[in-house]
Order: sequence, then C-alpha cells, then structure tokens
Amino acid sequence: MKPDKIIEIPNAKAIHGLRPQKWPRTNYVFCNGEDEGPMINDGQILDSPKDYVNFYTAIDADKMTVAWQVLVSGNLDNTDADYDGKYAFSTSYNSEMGMNTGDMTSSEMDHVVVFNIAEIEKGLKAGDFQELNGVKVIDGRKGKNKNYTRYIPIANNPHGCNMAPDKIHLCIGGKLSPTVSVIDVRKLDDLFYKNAEPRSAIVAEPQLGLGPLHTCFDGQGNAYTTLFLDSQVVKWNIEKAVQAYKGEKIDPIVTKTDVHYQPGHNTTMMGETLQAEAKYYISMNKFSKDRFLNVGPLKPENEQVFLIEGDKLTLVHDGPTFAEPHDSICVHRSIVNPKTVWDRNDPMWEDARKQAAADGVKLEDGAKEPIRDGNKVRVYMTSQAPSFSMETFTVKQNDEVTIYVTNLDDIDDLTHGFTMGDHGVAMEISPQQTASVTFVAAKAGVYWYYCQWFCHALHMEMRGRMLVEPRGA
Ligand code: CUA
Ligand code: CA
Repeated sequence: MKPDKIIEIPNAKAIHGLRPQKWPRTNYVFCNGEDEGPMINDGQILDSPKDYVNFYTAIDADKMTVAWQVLVSGNLDNTDADYDGKYAFSTSYNSEMGMNTGDMTSSEMDHVVVFNIAEIEKGLKAGDFQELNGVKVIDGRKGKNKNYTRYIPIANNPHGCNMAPDKIHLCIGGKLSPTVSVIDVRKLDDLFYKNAEPRSAIVAEPQLGLGPLHTCFDGQGNAYTTLFLDSQVVKWNIEKAVQAYKGEKIDPIVTKTDVHYQPGHNTTMMGETLQAEAKYYISMNKFSKDRFLNVGPLKPENEQVFLIEGDKLTLVHDGPTFAEPHDSICVHRSIVNPKTVWDRNDPMWEDARKQAAADGVKLEDGAKEPIRDGNKVRVYMTSQAPSFSMETFTVKQNDEVTIYVTNLDDIDDLTHGFTMGDHGVAMEISPQQTASVTFVAAKAGVYWYYCQWFCHALHMEMRGRMLVEPRGA
C-alpha cells in the first residue's frame, strides 16, 4: 500500500493508539498522544514533569488536517470510538504523570478518558480554546469541570480499548489487573449531564486471567481477550459478565486456548465493524519462543490464525513475522477491491505533472535531455520492459537531481524499479504510475542506475548510466 497523505501532528509528543470514528461516518481519526511534555516545547521547561501535559488529537479524515486537540491529564495509550458518534475513549497507564516505571505504577487506579465530541465541537464554536502551533486546543484536564471529558477510574495501568459491535460495551484490558472493565456507553450521558459517579458506567469486570491486553469480538455476544502472561486467549460472554457483576453465580468464561507466545493484539473477521463474524481469530504474538529455527539473536515473532468453531478455537496457521505484529484488521475479501493498475491521472503525482508542464514535458513522453534549472536538474524518463527511455544522462557534481520515471507498461503486476547505485536511491514504479526521487550528485564519476524489479527476461539489462562531471575546485 502507499499512503495518500502523511501529516505531522503538532504539540502531541508521540502517537500510539489510533482509530477512526465509527459512526455516523469517519469524520475524525482519533490519535492518542502517549508521551507527556511541556505544552510549549521550546526548552524553557525541561526536567519539570509537574508542568507537562498531554494531547488527544482529532484529525479531519476528509482533509487530513488536524481538526482539534484536547489537553488531558495523564498519558494516553489506546483509543476507540462508540457506534453512535458521541464518544471517544482513551486508556491511560500513567495518570500519575510518572517519569519512571516505579512512579508510573504507583497508584491503585489509573483511568479511561471519555471525550464528548459534541461538547468539544460546541466549546470550539464558543471560542473556548487556545491556539497552539496552528491547532485549536481545548482544555479537558481533570478538575476543570467542563463537559469535554470525564475520567473513569480503572485498575492501575490498563491497556486495550475496544468497542463491541453490540454498540453498547466498551472493553478495557486490565494489563496489571486480571480483569477487563466493561463500560456501558448508554450510561455515559449521566456522567456528563447528571453528575453521576464515574464508575457507575462500569457494568462488568470479569476476572479473565493474567495480563489481559486487547479484546476483539465475534458479533455473537462473545469477546476474545489476549492474556499476555498466561499466553492464552480467553473467550468470554459479555452478557454473562454483566450478570455476574450484578451478583449472579455465573461464569462468563467460555473457553481458554493456548497461543504461542505472549499475545498482544488480536483480530476477528470484520471485528471492528457491526458485521463482526465468528469465523477466524488472529493472534499477534510478541514472542515465538522456540517455534521456529534459531536464525540468530533477533528471532521472528509469531502470528497465528485460528478457526472459530462453536466454543473451540483450532489453530490453522502459524507464520513468523518481523517485530512486532502490532495491531491489524481483518476484512472480507469482497471489500478489498483496488484498481489493478494506476490511473494516469491519479492525484498522487500531481506535483510531478505540474512540474513537467512547466518544463514543457509530458510525463508519458519523457524528455530526451535533462532539464537544467540553476543547479537543479530534472530528468524525465519512462520505463517499458526491458528498458528506460534514457540510457544515459549527464549532470554536474553537486547538482540536485530529480528523476521522474513514468511506467508505460499497463500489464497487471508489471512493476519496475529505479535504483541509483551509491546514492541511497531505490523506488518502485507500478504500471502506469509516475514516481520521483531527488538526490544530490555529490561525487563525480560514472554511476549505473537499474531496475530492481524482475520485470522481463532482459531485466538485468534494464539499466543506464548517470555521468557526473567534476565541478572543479
Ligand atoms: Cu524493469 Cu526489471
Ligand atoms: Ca499507572
């Protein structure tokens, strides 16, 4: 996959958990700021943690711009949103605002922050924000007594934050506590508008095993929680957990299945949608522990696929994976339906198109010679198996060179590459795509460029030379 757009998020120090708003549509993408820091990070405040803050960020999903941020107390770990478009949630393992492990685990309780989206939007409209690095920041810290946030106490150092497809239950992994705290989102209005006690929104807190991290769902009222320390997945019934919390003698645990080894994230088919299915379960394990041949000190980690059949989970696939398998989604193949070749008019390379037009060049024709613009040089070439349209070009030492390659091949899967030896340059150009790369030709000499995708019987011969003339002393 290629990103459409990458943006920088100001103010927040590190983004950990990230989720799209689920309903009524993805207006926002919510991003947790994990690391605390000074509100204005310009060196005036350094080793003074009492002055640190943290930021929750909402990205405008259509424009890919920062919509707003909320100042919060404590750090932020994982996030999710409800299915009504009203609330978003974040777990915090460091409500203590500690700077070392001892301090970060010193409290009995941390919290989950509940963000009231309508109230935040209302506050912004009313001008109740400060502007910080071009972003509207609203103050949702504890004790501000505003309707932007509520803090629900959760046993110390919670982790996962997952909304069930029953539209009601939010599951918070206890991590240090053997419990999952279940919040009924229908009770959250009372926290904001009736001053209800924050923990009144918790409707279940089943003891499931050691190290509960993340939870996923099968659309049939069951939840699957990874137990990091027990190296198991526990399947449990949400409604039974609610009944047990009310005092009924009922065990919500359906079954426990060993995984290999120490799982973190997990996924079910369509599990983060209302179409969650009881079909496949994926366990992303943070260790492989002797599962594979020793390949050296850096071991592969392990992803496992289980078939869900009734209460039973049957292992159907193990696969080594690079460190670390960190969250995934699993969707039905019918909704993964990309184009097979690029559209020549894709906005992805709009900048290249504009630059080519300014240079009097058509991307699909390429240019015969490099175009010189001061010490900037632009090279337009095309690729068609098994050759580039330019076999050689000449630049001067220290020129800033931009290479545009337009792949004229339109056969599915006929990708070319462009690698410039000794310059740290290697890119991929899929069928009908234009890609570009800029580098400085710092050293005089002869440098070969070549295609690094096996595209043709004469793939090895798909190469050319860049001649770099010495600039002189
Ligand atoms: Cu083009 Cu290999
Ligand atoms: Ca803590």
